[in-house]
Amino acid sequence: MKVYVTRNIPASGINLLKTTGHEVVVNPDDRMHTKDELIAILKKEKPDAVLSLLTDKIDGEVMDSAPTVKIFANYAVGFDNFDREAAKRRNILLSNTPSEVLSDSVAEHTFALILALAHRIVESDNFTRSGRYKGWAPFLFLGTLLKGKTLGVIGLGRIGADVVKHSMGIGMKCVYYDVKPNPDFEKQTNARFLSMEDLLKQSDVVSVHVPLNDGTRHLLSTKQFNMMKPTALVINTSRGPVVDEKAVLQALADKKINGFACDVFECEPSIDCDPSDHLELKAMPNVILTPHIASATIEAREDMSKMAAENIIAALSGKTPPNQIK
Ligand code: GLV
Ligand code: GLV
Repeated sequence: MKVYVTRNIPASGINLLKTTGHEVVVNPDDRMHTKDELIAILKKEKPDAVLSLLTDKIDGEVMDSAPTVKIFANYAVGFDNFDREAAKRRNILLSNTPSEVLSDSVAEHTFALILALAHRIVESDNFTRSGRYKGWAPFLFLGTLLKGKTLGVIGLGRIGADVVKHSMGIGMKCVYYDVKPNPDFEKQTNARFLSMEDLLKQSDVVSVHVPLNDGTRHLLSTKQFNMMKPTALVINTSRGPVVDEKAVLQALADKKINGFACDVFECEPSIDCDPSDHLELKAMPNVILTPHIASATIEAREDMSKMAAENIIAALSGKTPPNQIK
């Protein structure tokens, strides 16, 4: 059967589809399709399955342009790009690449951002390479020691749990908030469950690890920033709209928090939702911005490719995809 891949991805999954006997057509351009292009190409190719990216908005209109498609298999853990109700109404299967293949990578990236923010790595690197370093000085780029400080993880899924485990290695205390406590995890680690409000008040570093949905949009906004310590560092490697961009800009400007690092943006791929706003993330020194690369390790991306292909292979042989989204 025919599989359309909306953008070239690491070879493992593509090879697996081919060796299973499927015909694979990959978007020849190394850029995402616009919605109109995607609709046009699906009408032309009439694939039986689509391997999609988190940047492809798959709504009812896209689904109707491809009535032969049995499954849209996302090459991502997040699936806020899918209209799940629209798929259900059309009996189309959806799948993702759950965090077991990418949580190590995302958690390491999150921890790299935590360390870089606390130790002012990016600011001081810019300073050094711009020729301003004139010799050791007692107050040059004073940062924050993380040992003994409190990490607050919001969302104790696999990624959040891995971030907690990393923090134990350097002697941080950990608190977490989720819809319910996880006593087994508390036994394995030093993490303690707190209400969201107490977590925000007590944490020195706040890191969010929730999927984007109606309940998590702007989970961190003005009210939450006002509860945090003025020394707090905030990290977002989940989805941009989980943090209210306008509110975080204002909190940084008003020194309600001390730093922000993110891998995702509210109006992605734009860094600023409102370029006319006088406050800009990219103009702030105590902000680190990475371009949605937390899962971008060779290891994670090959595993994701293979997993997306396995979901397609199952669906096309009439089986339940191992990572079906219901
Ligand atoms: C990356 O953001 C993913 O959802 O896999
Ligand atoms: C959302 O993107 C998540 O990884 O939880």
